[in-house]
Amino acid sequence: MPDTGDMLRTETPFPADLDMSWLEAPTDWGIAAKPGKRGLTLDEINVGSYGEVPLDSGDMTMRPRGAAPRDGVPRLGYHLAKNDVWSKNATLLYEEAVQRQWSSATDIPWDTLEELPDDVERAMSQLCTFLTEVEFIAGDTPSQWLPQISNEHYEVKLFLASQVMDEARHLDVFRKRALANGGGLMSGGPGTGLRAIISARDFSEMSAIMHIIGEGFIQSLFRSGELLSNSEAEKRMFRLAAQDESRHVSFGVMHMKHMLETEPERREEIHSYLDSGEKIFAGTGVSASGGSVESLGILLGGGVKHMDEGLKKLLAIRKRQVNEYMHRLEVAGLGDRRERMTSAFSPMLNPA
Ligand SMILES: [Fe+2]
Ligand SMILES: [Fe+2]
Repeated sequence: MPDTGDMLRTETPFPADLDMSWLEAPTDWGIAAKPGKRGLTLDEINVGSYGEVPLDSGDMTMRPRGAAPRDGVPRLGYHLAKNDVWSKNATLLYEEAVQRQWSSATDIPWDTLEELPDDVERAMSQLCTFLTEVEFIAGDTPSQWLPQISNEHYEVKLFLASQVMDEARHLDVFRKRALANGGGLMSGGPGTGLRAIISARDFSEMSAIMHIIGEGFIQSLFRSGELLSNSEAEKRMFRLAAQDESRHVSFGVMHMKHMLETEPERREEIHSYLDSGEKIFAGTGVSASGGSVESLGILLGGGVKHMDEGLKKLLAIRKRQVNEYMHRLEVAGLGDRRERMTSAFSPMLNPA
């Protein structure tokens, strides 16, 4: 059987000045990746040279990993090396994100919302206003790192793109809840803690503060969503958002683990990011910003009259947030954080 490549080279009917040099690209040819149990996933196509992830190729062009380089093409400003951004579960998390997308328009049983006492509706509307702000930052932040990550490390880019989509849905579902039951948006927050996330200058700093502290705390809060909810719609909203958040947190944990294993000399640097991140979140962050403490107290108590009881429950949630945070750090290989955690959190730690 004649070789198609040879035929094209010798028998092409097109004018001689056509550039057919791409046929000579010295790439891996003959690859036939096969679907696995979960289908044809990214892990299944990471075969041969296509699966070799360079630590730092120096290639800042748009060339996809495995394609042949070309002379004279422009750089695009990608400058981060593999260890700066890598997390070995990025492929798995991306595939899961694609499979588990949901629609705030049709997957939330909005018809289960019922009229609530005015104080409870206002508290939920305030919480949703605050959460909408949180979700804007959680989407804006990964998006500004995408143009810095090499195409050779595309797995991380795909995961972060899926996070941007998840956060778009989160901000939309909380906005919809605020507008769906006779309330509306309430007061914007001071944004101090959120600004620290988007202003981080290093990817691992950003990931430690956003994925592990910020989204970790939000994830623990969403997992307590049953306590905040007065309808199946609200329960589902928190449950589905929590499912997405667990991917974002998991990426951050595995990135930190990878970084500590490959560049152990950065350990103290990571502690320094956590020192400032914890202080920001203890003071003005997730649980103490823009009326969120008060609104959570009202929701957990079941009305402003029982806010004291609600604030006690909030303390239990805060304890859960701190202990789940510590557990994630242990998984990442930073168990020594227990001795160094900010004094605002450390009294809430369960014994090791
Ligand atoms: Fe989110
Ligand atoms: Fe998130």
